[in-house]
This record gives sequence, C-alpha cells and structure tokens, in this order.
Amino acid sequence: MPTLAIIGAQWGDEGKGKITDYLAENADAVVRFQGGNNAGHTIIIGENTFKLHTLPSGILRKGKLAIIGNGVVINMADMTEEAKQLTDAGMTLDCLRISDRAHVIMNYHKKLDGAEESRRGKVAVGTTKKGIGPAYQDKIARCGFRAGDLLESDLIKEKAGVLLPMKNELLDMYGGERCGCTVDKMCGMFETWNESFGRYICDTSVLINDMIDEGKNILFEGAQGSMLDVDHGTYPYVTSSSTVGGGICSGSGIAPNRIKEVVGCLKAYTTRVGEGPFVTELFGEEGAYLQDKGGEFGTTTGRGRRCGWLDLVVARYSARLSGITHWAITKLDVLNGYEEIKVCVAYEIDGEILKHFPASIRKLERAKPVYETLKGWKDMADYDGSYRSLPLEAKEYLRFIEESTGVPVGIISIGPERSQTVDVYKKWWPAQEQ
Ligand code: IMP
Repeated sequence: MPTLAIIGAQWGDEGKGKITDYLAENADAVVRFQGGNNAGHTIIIGENTFKLHTLPSGILRKGKLAIIGNGVVINMADMTEEAKQLTDAGMTLDCLRISDRAHVIMNYHKKLDGAEESRRGKVAVGTTKKGIGPAYQDKIARCGFRAGDLLESDLIKEKAGVLLPMKNELLDMYGGERCGCTVDKMCGMFETWNESFGRYICDTSVLINDMIDEGKNILFEGAQGSMLDVDHGTYPYVTSSSTVGGGICSGSGIAPNRIKEVVGCLKAYTTRVGEGPFVTELFGEEGAYLQDKGGEFGTTTGRGRRCGWLDLVVARYSARLSGITHWAITKLDVLNGYEEIKVCVAYEIDGEILKHFPASIRKLERAKPVYETLKGWKDMADYDGSYRSLPLEAKEYLRFIEESTGVPVGIISIGPERSQTVDVYKKWWPAQEQ
C-alpha cells in the first residue's frame, strides 16, 4: 500500500519539514491531519523563502495535491497570508484541497488562548497563543465553525448570533479583551474566505481513500510531536490534538490498516518549547551551547528552545505509540565536536529504575536521567553522501539508537541541504521497491 507517514517522535521541531520535503518528491499527495498554525517550517526554493504554518509542504511541489485533513484547525486569515507568499512567487493554489470537516480558528479563539493562559498564571501551558486549544475545545463542545460552513452563509449567521455573545461572556469572565466582531462582520469574513478558498473545499476522506485505491503515493505529514499528544504527551503541557499515528486515521478519514510505513522523526538530541517536564534538559552554558549550535529558535514564535541530550525512553515510547517502522535521525551534525555524548536510557524515580514513560508529571519532575556515555566525533569532513563515509563514532551512535529502540534508522540528516541526507532504506514507495 503506497502510504507513508511522518511523525515527530519528541516535542516537535524534530526537522520534519526537511524530511517531508525529501519524501514528498515521489508522493502524489501530502496530507496534514492535525494541529494548525502552531506548527511551522521554512522552505527555501531558489531565491524564495516560504514560511508555512497551515498549508502542507506538498503545496510547493508541482503536480502534487496538498490536502488539509479534517483533523486540522485552520486560521483562514493567516492561511490567506501564507497563500499570498505563493501567489506572489507566481505559484497557484490549484493543488490545494481542504476538508469540509476541518474546523476554523476564530479571532475569539486566539483571544481566549491568551486570556486562559494568563488566568492559569504559574501553571500556564506556554502555548503558541494561536487559538489552537480553544478551537479544539469548541470542536469537542460541538460549537465550532467548519470549513464546509464557508459554503453555507445562512448557517454562519445563525451560529454567529449564538456563539459571539457566548465567547464574549467567557472573555469577560477571564478578564480578557472582548472580540470586537459583529455577526455581520463575521459573515463578511466568511464570504471573503469563501472567495479565496471555497473552491478547494471537499470531502478529503473520499479523495484520499480513492487515491490509495488507485495506487497513488500518499504522504501523511504530522505536526508537533508524540510528547505533545493530548492523550499520551506530558499532559497538561501538550497541544490539543492527537499527534501520534492514531491521529492520522481520525484526522484524515482513513482506516488504520491503510498506513504502511511510519517514519519517526528523531532529532539526535532533544528540544522542547513552552513549559513542562524535560528529563534530559541541559541548563546554563551547556544548554545555551547546544541551543546556539543547533539554531534552536522557533519558526512560529521565535522563542528559544530548551535543549538536552537524546532521551531514548521518549524514543521507545513514541515508537510504541505510532508503530514507527524507521527513524529519520535529524541534525546529527549538531553533535559534531563533542568529546563525549550522553544518551538517556532510563529514568530513576524515587530510587526505582523506569524504562517506560510515566503519566504523572510530578514523577517526571522528580525523574533523574540514567545516562550511557558514548564517544563523540570531530566533524563530518569525509562525508561523500554515503552512510559509509560518516564518522565511525556517529555510526556507533546510530547503532545504539537502533538497538535500544528496536527500530532501524532509515534516513540520516546532517544539514539543511538536500545533499546532506543519507537515505539508508531507499524503498519508501512501491515504485522504488522494484
Ligand atoms: P498550543 O499548541 O499552541 O496550544 O501549545 C501547546 C504546547 O505545544 C506549547 O508548549 C507549545 O510550545 C507546544 N507546541 C505547539 N506547536 C508546536 C510545534 O510546532 N513545535 C513545538 N512545540 C509546539
């Protein structure tokens, strides 16, 4: 079956954008299935730099469909800006498809995100303040706007009349700034969005399943990472969607037995943004050194990312949750020059050794990493595009990851360029298997 998924195996920012772009070359469609414009990556093509947050990265490749599945929440106003980058560069949106069941992020969701965060005070999540949580809250509370509503103006008027006052009452309660929108203004906004995107809205579940039946290559592009999953992540310091493999099915309308390969994107060290436990975090100079070396600053918020050693408890957990068939190890080159590299293989909590990721954040806060120390390497000066030419110690590092997780390494990325990608597996799509 020609389906392939890319899932972040840590707290997001694993470098999925580059791996997606690499694997998208032979895909017929790239599908996003969860999250919203809290995600983001920068793609450079020739002289143009594109910053994508909602549009799937496939949109930049001619002849491929870029599909926004039902599990995504869409900020239409921000997506209009994203689309403008493309049209300004002479590209069209013809290959875009948007699920009629995807939910819409409204301005009041953004305001509520900010107000809820300040109200939480010292237990704030550290969200991106894009309105992601409140938009998913409304989806579950059954009072959200869906992309399909863009095509039905009478429905918008009816819903807006009820929802606008409700949301303003909530904002008052939290002491937040009211949403200045009126029902008429909201109807006008939906009309504008309909003009821009209405023609791309359809039942994407039918579309994706038909394409799979026809033997087309479908790439599912995960946003964020497993540890930000609303069920399995470091709750409550998580995002509000299902970022693990199961999210592909509910978020795009396909059955579990239609997913063939699952690539887990694993950065050679660990980063996270926002609040929440991080067992292998490095502080002070050590943390700052890795942050600087890895250029660890957010695409969406510009925030500096917290940095630490690779955590294989997390990697094993992610592999189990998503059925990861191969690792794509990213940013391995950032570890160049370390004499020794530490890898966390277990946690010590209250004198007990734990190999599985616990649910309790209190326990995680008390967890001490159990490290194994591996030999580092100087640089990758001998790299000629092959696995063979990587430093011996780097290959040992990769072997250690494979053995500890039981998952083979399929791709290794040692820099932002296409040429800095070692494809070990090389059989991602059926045509490549022959
Ligand atoms: P939200 O998704 O904006 O609600 O934020 C919830 C948590 O997820 C915060 O800790 C964010 O920093 C984190 N988060 C959301 N999106 C990303 C991402 O794309 N990369 C890394 N962290 C993210």
